[in-house]
Order: sequence, then C-alpha cells, then structure tokens
Amino acid sequence: MRSTSAFALCFTLLLALLSPSTVVRADPRQFAGGSAEWQGGIRVTLKDVVLDVRLVYADTVRVRLAPANRFERLDRSYAVVAPRPAGPAGAVSERVEGDLRIITLTGPECSARVTVRPDTSAVVAILDAAGHVVVEDDPAAPPRVDAATGAVDVTKLHPRDQFVYGFGEKALPLDRTSVEMVHWNSDTPGYKTGTDPIYQTTPFYIGLRRGKAYGLFFDNTYRSYFNVAKRHPERISFGAPGGWLDQYVFCGGAARDPRQVIRRYTELTGRSELPPLWALGYQQCRWGYYPEKRVREIAAKFRETGIPCDAIYLDIDYMDGYRVFTWDKSRFPNPKQMVGDLRRDGFHTVVIIDPGIKVDEAYAAYQSGKAGRHFVTMPDGSEFQGAVWPGLCAFPDFTSPRARQWWGSQFAELVDTGVRGFWTDMNEPSVFLPPNFDEPWSIQHPAKTFPSETRQDGDGDPDSHARYHNVYGQQMTRATRDGLLALAPDQRPFILTRATFAGGQRYAASWTGDNIATWEHLELSIPMLLSMGVSGQSLAGADIGGFIDSPTPELYVRWLQAACLTPIMRSHTVAGTPDQEPFSYGPEYTDINRATIELRYELMPYLYTQFALAEQTGEPVMRPLWLDTPTDNRVLTTQDEFLVGPDLLVAPVVRPGVTTRRVVFPIGADWINWYTGELHRGGTDADVAAPIGRLPLFARAGRAREVDLR
Ligand code: GLC
Repeated sequence: MRSTSAFALCFTLLLALLSPSTVVRADPRQFAGGSAEWQGGIRVTLKDVVLDVRLVYADTVRVRLAPANRFERLDRSYAVVAPRPAGPAGAVSERVEGDLRIITLTGPECSARVTVRPDTSAVVAILDAAGHVVVEDDPAAPPRVDAATGAVDVTKLHPRDQFVYGFGEKALPLDRTSVEMVHWNSDTPGYKTGTDPIYQTTPFYIGLRRGKAYGLFFDNTYRSYFNVAKRHPERISFGAPGGWLDQYVFCGGAARDPRQVIRRYTELTGRSELPPLWALGYQQCRWGYYPEKRVREIAAKFRETGIPCDAIYLDIDYMDGYRVFTWDKSRFPNPKQMVGDLRRDGFHTVVIIDPGIKVDEAYAAYQSGKAGRHFVTMPDGSEFQGAVWPGLCAFPDFTSPRARQWWGSQFAELVDTGVRGFWTDMNEPSVFLPPNFDEPWSIQHPAKTFPSETRQDGDGDPDSHARYHNVYGQQMTRATRDGLLALAPDQRPFILTRATFAGGQRYAASWTGDNIATWEHLELSIPMLLSMGVSGQSLAGADIGGFIDSPTPELYVRWLQAACLTPIMRSHTVAGTPDQEPFSYGPEYTDINRATIELRYELMPYLYTQFALAEQTGEPVMRPLWLDTPTDNRVLTTQDEFLVGPDLLVAPVVRPGVTTRRVVFPIGADWINWYTGELHRGGTDADVAAPIGRLPLFARAGRAREVDLR
C-alpha cells in the first residue's frame, strides 16, 4: 500500500514539474512528427510530407514543404548563391491550444509560427520583430504537395490595401495585383501589355502595405503560376506542377523597409557585378550591320556627328550560315582587324550568340558538341533537334557542368579576335514551329520550345526539360560568363541576355526582347524595367525606338530620352526597317539626340558610382518612387517617372505631341529642375516644361556635395 501511494505521489509531482507541451511530446502519436526542433529550425513530418522552417538571415525565413522521400535529395537551387547561407539558429518553442500544436521559431528580427492541425495539415505565419503578421497562409487552403503528381500550391492572405511589385520582366503595370501570371520563358515577339508569360522568370514579389514591406521568393523552376488577388481579392495563390514548395520570406529588417527586402533577396540570389564602364555608355545595335564596310560607316558616322557611342553590335548575319562561333568571311574578311580598328576608335564590338548549334558534320562546334555528348537528348538518349536560324540544330545542355565548360571554351577565338561583349539570344529556349505545322501560330505556342520530355542533366539531378526549361537561358549565361572569365580573367565580361531566371543577375544584363515602335511600348518599358530592378534583374534595358516596325522621329527622340538614364542604353531594330541611329532623322533631331546621349555621359560619374553601390547592396539604380518613400501614397503606382540612384528624378515624356507634363515630387526632399534651377517641394505635383529637346530631370536638393564622384 505504502509503496503504491509513494509511487502515485512521485508520479503526480513529476507531472506537475512537466510543462503541458512536454506532456504532449511524451505522446508523439497524438501528432505527426514528434519533436519539432531540428538544427536550429523547425522540422515536422506531416503524413508523407516534411515541413521545414528555418532562418536564412536575421530577418528572413525559409519555408519548405516536400514529399518526405525526396526531401534531402533535392536541396539544390539554380537561384540561390552557393554555398547556401547557413543562417542563424532560432529558438524553438511549442504549445498546445485545443487540438492545435503551435510551434514557434523566434529569430533576431522575425519569427515563424507553424500551426499543426489535427488533420496533419499545417499553416505558417511569418511575424516581424514587433510581432505583427508579415504574411500568413490562408487557413482555408493550407500548403499542399500532391504526392501523386508532385504538384505544389499555397495560398497567402492578401490585405486589400497591399500593393504587389516585382516578378521581374512582365509586360504588366508596376502594381501587379489583380493578375494571374505564369512563369515559362517564352520567345514572344511583339508582345503587348498583358501578354504573359514573356522571356524571363523571377518568382519574387514585394508586398507593400502602409509603408511596410515584405518579399516572397518561390524557388521553383517548373512552370509556376501566381494568382495575385485576381481569383480572390484577398488572396495570393501560387504553385507549380512539380518541385518543392520552397519559399523565402524577407521581412525587411525591423523597419520592414523595401530596400532591405531587396538587399536580402539579392544577398540570397546574387547581385549584378559592376559592368565594364564602356557597357554603361550608349550602345548601337540593329539587325544587322553587315558587311564590314557598313559597320565602319556607322562607326564613322558617330564620330563625324560627335555623338558618343561605346558599342556596336553584330546580329546573326556576321556568322557563316548562322553557325555560332564562326564568321562569314565574305562579309567580314578580317574580323580581328575590324574589331581592333573599332576598338582604337573607341568602340567595343558585341556579337550575338544563339544556343542552337547547326547539325552539320563538317562544323567544328557540332562535331565537338556531339562527340562530348553535350546536347539535350530525347528520352531514348538520341539528340534532340529543332529548327532555328541555321536550320536544324542541336542544343547544348547548359545544366550539365561538362557542357558548360565545353561551351565556355568555344569563345576562345572570339576573345582572341578582341570581342568583349556577347549578346545571348533565343535562350528561352526558342525553337521555330515546323513549316508544315498545322496548328495556327501563336506567340506562346507550346511547340515553340523543346518538348517537355527532353532530358537534361540538372547538374547531376537528371530530369525533364519541364523542370529545367526556365533556367536554360540563365545557365547559358553562366556558361558564357565562366568561359569568358577563364579566357580573359582580368576583364569584366559583358553579357546581354534575353531569357533568364531568378539569380541570373549574377551572370548577365538583360533586355526586354522584341518590343514594338509604338508609344504604348515606350510607356510600358518603364514599369517593366522598374519591376526588373526591384526583382534583382536590375541591369536591364529596352530596345530604344522599338524593335518591330519603325518609330517616327518624335518617338525615337522621346524613347532615347526615356532610356538615357536606364541601366542599359541600346538602340535596336529588326531587319528591313529604315535606319534607326540617333543621326538617322535629320540635323535638327541629330542635335537633340546628341544632347540626350551627352547627358548620359555627363552623368556617367554619378551613374558609375551608383552601379558600384548597387553591386554591394543589390538595390537597383533605376528605382520606382515608392522604394525610397514607401509611405508616400501618391507615388505607389507612379510608373512614368523613376529615380536614378536616390538623387535624380526622371520624368520622361511617353506620349506624342506633348510639351509639358505633370510631375509628382516624392516626399522627403525638395527637387531642383536640372535646366531651370526651379525648386519643387517634395509632396507637390507640378506641370513642367518638356519641349521636344528636353528630358525632364530633377536633382534632390542638398545632395550634390554628398556624392563622391572621384
Ligand atoms: C530575336 C532577338 C532580336 C534579334 C533577332 C535576330 O528576335 O530578340 O533582338 O535581332 O532575333 O537575331
């Protein structure tokens, strides 16, 4: 008797000493997963999926959900820099509320709250340093992984007064609410506002509400989708047909500052390096300058008219039958001489490089690519072939380290010729529809790329093109850059790409593809470039004057002005259009265009400084007004003005026949008219003179002396 009651007493004491959560943990069968603390983060098994939540930085949380049997094997990313940031350990605590198990991970500047429900689903909320919810899963639609198909999806709550920015290169307005978008890199010539998808994929957005920001990156290379408050005005849903539900939430530090969100996103996915100085100069392109005589004529004309220009581009016609890494010697008999002469005259030569390698047994690149088995294959192991400019081609598998190395080595001759700039195109990847194709052509026809079932190496994780499609262009630029650095280690490579994926900013600048010579496209170029900037893809430009069709002199003048302070300033047009150089529109316009380009060069010390800073912070040089003043409600959707660095405000004319325009001056500073010295108070609007020869430009008052221009 005595011993039984002593035992009972001990047992009661023991129970009293244990916290409720410890008691619960003593019976793990009640919940799936057992102990949630795992190496400084949370890891719980929910039936057959694993949920892992951990800090990446003090203010950044990674939330992963994946099938249990594939969890460890797949922790890889083409977006995130290697090695992965280790991240600080957080403090994990647990409690039980009714039938809910609530697990909290607390970090220095944010926390994550996981609520596991009796049905073993779980929802995650991210909280800021003050304990306010930053973003949370919709309790009615918890994150899911479909074990049968591998599809993943999640829905976040979206307050109606939240603005959504980012998503990289999309032909959409700056505020990306009320849209459904798909991420599938597509060759979309002549796209319009609303055409989606287009060339690039960056599944990253910034939510901004009442001056407070957060960022969310969905690291998934499949054909993902985002429904941003379209299907439901208070929800953002996203998902993909495969891969992980791999999400990063950036809280923007204690202040929830959008600039800090971008700093962290680009710390995670990499930053654009300072480009060579010449690449920030004016660049002249067209499809195409040939033969050599024509190239020399264009160069001479720039010098004759006194218009600064640092780069001349050669489009596909410089090659022998469009075979990459060759020259058409009838058009360019001595490339080294020409490139050298141009260089002495102050021009860099940039050449186009397409991924398709012509199937031609007598062509060195095809021979070595085939011998090395560097091409994308069909499921049966045979070479996949598709038609592009040269006719039938094989395509390097840029997700294979061996193929990347082989590709990089192909640049030796071009580097030896003196070429330092490379323009990587058609890398969505794009394939022509066969001539006898019986379905109507559409710009996003699924047959305009590799078949989904083609095989790629995936850096040792072989899978179908469906998984690696969106990184094809990004990995092409990686291979190109690595090759160039190996061949000319002391020179910063300049690569301009059409397609890329999140993180691709580490390898190349980009342009917005085949736009059209219309005022609408000029107008659209600004929100497009601004969105790319806040999504890490900041070194970008649009074809000045428009690629398809040809601009009126007025449109060209205004476009050149609008692009004068965008990161990349390059004119380009399609084959067969009239001349589209700054001196092509008669003496009056030549003078205006010269002054526009001179303005860029006048500001080059400031610009170069800003790019050097951007390399360190990831903050874009071309910035939407809300970035620096997120509490100024007047500027949250402003998309026809932008800042260049924090101190210059640009208000280009994007409509025809206009000689004045309304300018919104952001709060927090006064702004001085560049031409008249007139002072505009921050927080006001004004009609400002914008005669045809003038790009409305304003300098932040009181800053000039603080900028170190040495
Ligand atoms: C694609 C590119 C364009 C280039 C053309 C020919 O359409 O987007 O810029 O001029 O191909 O190479």
